Amino acid sequence: MIRVNSTSEKKLFIKSYGCQMNVYDADRMADILAPEGCILSDNVMDADIIILNTCHIREKATEKIYSELGRLAIQKAKREKVGKQTVLAVGGCVGQAEGSEIIRRAPYVDIVFGPQTYHRLPEMLKRANAGFEKVIETDFPIESKFDSFPEATIGKPYSAFITVQEGCDKFCTFCVVPYTRGSEYSRPAPQIVAEAQSLAKKGVREVTLLGQNVNNYHGYNKGCIEKGLGSLIENIAKIDGLSRIRYTTSYPADLNMELINAHRNVKELMPFLHLPLQSGSNSVLRAMNRRHNVEDYYRLVEKLRIARPDIALSSDFIVGFPGETDKDFEETLKVIKDINFVNAYSFKYSPRPGTPAATMDFQVPEQEKIERLERLQKLLGVQQIQFNQSCVGMVMPVLLEGEGRKAGQLVGRSPFMQPVNTIASKDFVGQIMNIKIDSAQKYSLRGQII
Ligand code: SAH
Ligand code: F3S
Repeated sequence: MIRVNSTSEKKLFIKSYGCQMNVYDADRMADILAPEGCILSDNVMDADIIILNTCHIREKATEKIYSELGRLAIQKAKREKVGKQTVLAVGGCVGQAEGSEIIRRAPYVDIVFGPQTYHRLPEMLKRANAGFEKVIETDFPIESKFDSFPEATIGKPYSAFITVQEGCDKFCTFCVVPYTRGSEYSRPAPQIVAEAQSLAKKGVREVTLLGQNVNNYHGYNKGCIEKGLGSLIENIAKIDGLSRIRYTTSYPADLNMELINAHRNVKELMPFLHLPLQSGSNSVLRAMNRRHNVEDYYRLVEKLRIARPDIALSSDFIVGFPGETDKDFEETLKVIKDINFVNAYSFKYSPRPGTPAATMDFQVPEQEKIERLERLQKLLGVQQIQFNQSCVGMVMPVLLEGEGRKAGQLVGRSPFMQPVNTIASKDFVGQIMNIKIDSAQKYSLRGQII
């Protein structure tokens, strides 16, 4: 039974797994729990409340959570012996997908919740604290959690995330997101603009607008007129102090001309786009229930490059989707060569319970997946280093976000998302400086402030 002293300060530890939206959610959880006396701590050993904010996207991500919980059970028992109680909570997409199964496999867990219920954490903690029950909150509530957020105070100081859209109605046959995050929801534009204004006042220089299908954003403005992402970006660009805007993740079939034109017209919109293709084979794309084919993707890239010639593209790929043949895989390599991505995430297909692809015929053997992934990553790696090398000699505006790994070094991001290291005084942290790039590694650049 748990009994955390409700009058004293409580140390709160949150560990996030997976996507950037989980990072945003974790910061909001900390904001929501602050008025309850919860102080964010980075020391798990000493925490009174531990939240694992989990990811369910691939099997490995889910199994990681259970092994972490095993370790935390030992810690909880040890603390109990010296009279200290620990509330252990599992949130995020594993919480949503597994629900009471988590309590069955890990009975020492006190609270299980999903991505749409975390605004109720204060009340969940009280119920868990009363010690009578395990708390499981995995419904999809009618009320929007966004309406009960306090002002954002936790987060990175200069480059912040804002969730603008959540959920997904696309049902790609491999993907759990529509089941764990729920159906598509766009926040009202005035609520987002207010959040961006408040961040800008605190010194934030860059915002990344987040959504599972962020480019299908269709929120309402003050006049109750539906607006798309392009228009939202134009409004955010007007906010004083915000110099950089990014957005992720985009679904190719929902990338409209309004947004493509924003890349031409809005100078604050960074010339970098993560646009997941998944496969270069039309028959695999069909089996994945993606609503775009390879030709659509080429056309989109052409339009984007006309609007913003220096735009850098990144993508996601899955190898070994059920039924993927050698020929399909070769087609993926061909598209990668044609488009030339500056970086990309690639994964072996991982069957997820409850998704249609998990029970499809012709699952690809593991060894085949491993070999394909290796070939694909090799090609992507070559493109990445070539792009980085092509930046040597260029002068780039870099948002310096903090200290680098080496003494005296600061690190920031280029417009194309590359980490850039430079020797500079800490006074430059939080500023956008022009840096002349003098060397390139696979994952980062180095240069000097000019
Ligand atoms: N909304 C994004 C994807 C979000 S999930 C889109 O439109 O594509 C992030 C990435 O994880 C996906 O792009 C996909 O490449 C990968 N992924 C999702 N489910 C997967 C699975 N079952 N196995 C392997 N990779 C997967
Ligand atoms: Fe997943 Fe496809 Fe939506 S990858 S998040 S179901 S667009």
